[in-house]
Amino acid sequence: MAKNHLLLSFSFFSVLIIAQISHIFAKNTSKSPIVIQPYIIDYRNGTVTKYYNGPASFVPPPIDSQVQSKDIVIPSPSYHNLRARVFLPARPDPSRKIPVLLYFHGGAFCIGSAFGWGDSHYVAKVAAEARVIAIAVDYRLYPDFTVPAPLEDAWAALEWVAAHASRAGPGHDPWVAQYGHLGRIFAGGDSSGATIAHNLAVRVGMGHGPHLSGLFLAMPYFLGSKRVPLEPKWFPFSPNYKVWPYVCNHCKGGVNNKFINPFGRGAPSIAHLGCKKLLVYTAEVDELRGRAIWYYKRVRTSRWPGQARWIEAKGQSHIFHISKPDDPATTKLIRDLSAFVNSN
Ligand SMILES: *[C@@H]1O[C@H](CO)[C@@H](O)[C@H](O)[C@H]1NC(C)=O
Ligand SMILES: *[C@@H]1O[C@H](CO)[C@@H](O)[C@H](O)[C@H]1NC(C)=O
Repeated sequence: MAKNHLLLSFSFFSVLIIAQISHIFAKNTSKSPIVIQPYIIDYRNGTVTKYYNGPASFVPPPIDSQVQSKDIVIPSPSYHNLRARVFLPARPDPSRKIPVLLYFHGGAFCIGSAFGWGDSHYVAKVAAEARVIAIAVDYRLYPDFTVPAPLEDAWAALEWVAAHASRAGPGHDPWVAQYGHLGRIFAGGDSSGATIAHNLAVRVGMGHGPHLSGLFLAMPYFLGSKRVPLEPKWFPFSPNYKVWPYVCNHCKGGVNNKFINPFGRGAPSIAHLGCKKLLVYTAEVDELRGRAIWYYKRVRTSRWPGQARWIEAKGQSHIFHISKPDDPATTKLIRDLSAFVNSN
């Protein structure tokens, strides 16, 4: 009797164990997704979505005593709906032209927006403090589009600003037409936005197009397979590293592609960087810092004839100026940017 009972329990548990094992195998017939937080989820069935797949954050153009702003669509040959937010200092002097700053937000070419609270608040402050027309370009993002679409958008925005030199034109903006100093156009951005600004200056440097006075790279997103000084050893495991093959999925050379590695194969000599001055801004607590400093040093020691400067925000982390727009470190960054734009 006892023996039979034992046998019965044994078969019962065997069935349970077999059920458990087949359950595990059943689960594994579909591969588990690759999650690259906070950017994307790859379901490994041909579908890749943004990690947060809801609507992009949007705040209306800010209205305050320091700045006016509005949303526009920039005419572009490569994209019909290239939107941007334009900021003009309040009460501009009608007899004086002021610099134009094209600004590109960050987010590894996947996330972020020119219309989010952080970016909108920050670019408004830049326009007010530096007394520039700031144009935050809402370039195309992954997964709907891949690199080089964002670079095409940046180029379209620059050509559009420069086209205001002709007296009137379709799609001219009255603020840029009246107040924009077209001999003083700057490009800037943070993280992947700085990557876009760099690529814009590279394209300007190849000639036959508009000019740029200066380039502002805040915590630029640059990659490369060969480790550089101050770059963490674990960096290849970082989401910033792993997301690149997705956002530039037609690009050759992976992290050494010229769009993300300024010294990668096929990249034109940095000596041809198409601007007169450069400001590289790093944050001390940032995995991207090492390569940004390396970039700055490579530019400085190249035959590039312009002026290069590097400033580091001590104790600050990646894109602190967007996450903490009212922090004293952000106030200093904006003052430094203002001095850069307004010095000769
Ligand atoms: C199922 O897949 C996961 C992750 O891909 C793996 O860690 C696990 O060992 C697999 N299980 C079996 C029973 O193969
Ligand atoms: C891939 O898997 C996800 C999640 O299960 C699903 O939403 C999506 O429709 C699938 N895509 C394809 C092409 O089967």
